[in-house]
Amino acid sequence: MAGYTDSPFRRLAREHGSTFTYTEFVSTEAIIRNSSKTFSMLRFVPEERPIIFQIFGSRPEVIADAVKILAELSPDAIDLNMGCSVKKVAHKGSGAGLLREPEKAKNIFHAMKRASTVPVTAKIRLGWDPSSLNYREIARILEGEGASAIFVHGRTKSMGYSGTADWEKIAEVRQSVSIPVYGNGDVISKEDAEERIRKYDLNGVLIGRHAMGDPWIFSGMDKNSVTKSEKHRTMIRHIEWMVEFYGEKMGVRLFRKHFVHYTRGCTNAAELRKKGLMAVTKKELLTVLDELL
Ligand SMILES: Cc1cc2nc3c(=O)[nH]c(=O)nc-3n(C[C@H](O)[C@H](O)[C@H](O)COP(=O)(O)O)c2cc1C
Repeated sequence: MAGYTDSPFRRLAREHGSTFTYTEFVSTEAIIRNSSKTFSMLRFVPEERPIIFQIFGSRPEVIADAVKILAELSPDAIDLNMGCSVKKVAHKGSGAGLLREPEKAKNIFHAMKRASTVPVTAKIRLGWDPSSLNYREIARILEGEGASAIFVHGRTKSMGYSGTADWEKIAEVRQSVSIPVYGNGDVISKEDAEERIRKYDLNGVLIGRHAMGDPWIFSGMDKNSVTKSEKHRTMIRHIEWMVEFYGEKMGVRLFRKHFVHYTRGCTNAAELRKKGLMAVTKKELLTVLDELL
């Protein structure tokens, strides 16, 4: 998830039991421009493996060049984002915009597969809008072009994040192809994940929003039953990794959004957040965390 699944976040997810993690999506145009900011989003530590790099773009030749460069960094797979609904991505022919142009998507995936020395996958939505539900067609194209797996968010582009994901349709994708299919959308716990995997006969699920401020979701622990000292220990670890990765000033600043998620449901959340959001140094932040105990 853009803005969230950086190296410290992924490391924490893996440590708590997620099977693999994804990077934030990165622009293939930025990769071929050699943008250092973009490359820094792909830095990872060995403990994060298996790791999937996620890319977006709309030009086959650029995507192929970017994939050649990225494969050299040895991710476990490279995934094409075909689901992003944000206007500046989808309306420019990338992300979910590719669902509107199956032929172009086919060419792009073909180029990606040819250029890559590591497995390639794609993450899709059900279609652009309710009148163009082409998930089965897209899935078959991806399978035909050599995708190693398909990840399906059970909403259309036009839904954004509204309504609920349609898992019956995700199951239809599973039945349409013989490569692994992973479902995505609204998974709220490990138990929920296992239930959906069983019910819809899937290879796995992706967990997004519910992992924010809750790495315990991957170990099957209810966040509300996690002890204060365990919460404290995990947040300190998270901060330490953030500071290690970004340096103190940036690490502390970027931790703020995670802090808001971690303190959701805390009895004194408002007060804690006020203090947490004002912290500038690691020491200040750790002092606020001590109040959690
Ligand atoms: C802040 C945010 C950033 C996201 N960034 C990405 C992204 O970079 N790539 C992607 O495939 N999906 C991205 N998504 C979508 C999620 O991966 C996921 O498909 C969606 O949130 C539904 O799953 P969930 O109900 O488990 O969150 C993002 C979602 C959010 C809320």
